[in-house]
Amino acid sequence: MKIALGADHGGFELKEKIKAHLIEKGYEVLDLGTHSTESVDYPTFGHAVGHAVVDKKADYGVLVCGTGIGISIAANKVPGVRAALCTNTTMARLTREHNNANILAMGGRIVGDVLALEMVDVFLATEFQGGRHEKRVDAIENI
Ligand code: RB5
Repeated sequence: MKIALGADHGGFELKEKIKAHLIEKGYEVLDLGTHSTESVDYPTFGHAVGHAVVDKKADYGVLVCGTGIGISIAANKVPGVRAALCTNTTMARLTREHNNANILAMGGRIVGDVLALEMVDVFLATEFQGGRHEKRVDAIENI
């Protein structure tokens, strides 16, 4: 499975930890930057990861900015993206089960490293439940 990663300067350090964690677990990683703590604009990376997922260059995406807010807003502008900003593992699980989220977003200045890696693991291990959730997700796509 291939995971696209993106972050701004506020999420760079956590993105690097997520990258190492994913590689250790045997995932392929598509790192779309940023590649340092130099100040950059989060929409660039939300957009890049959103397109990588929708264009099937990656199966899922993980995005990190300072809060996770800006980068998730940007990613969700790409049609077909369902980026979920999560702050705990319950949200990471439920957004896969109910929303069929294809991108996990988080705040590098909000969550600790251990929680962040747990959220990534839970997100990637959880399947969409379908059923009653299917028509709701379809309705999002038809907006
Ligand atoms: C960058 O300073 C910060 O605004 C950004 O990382 C993010 O938190 C925006 O939502």
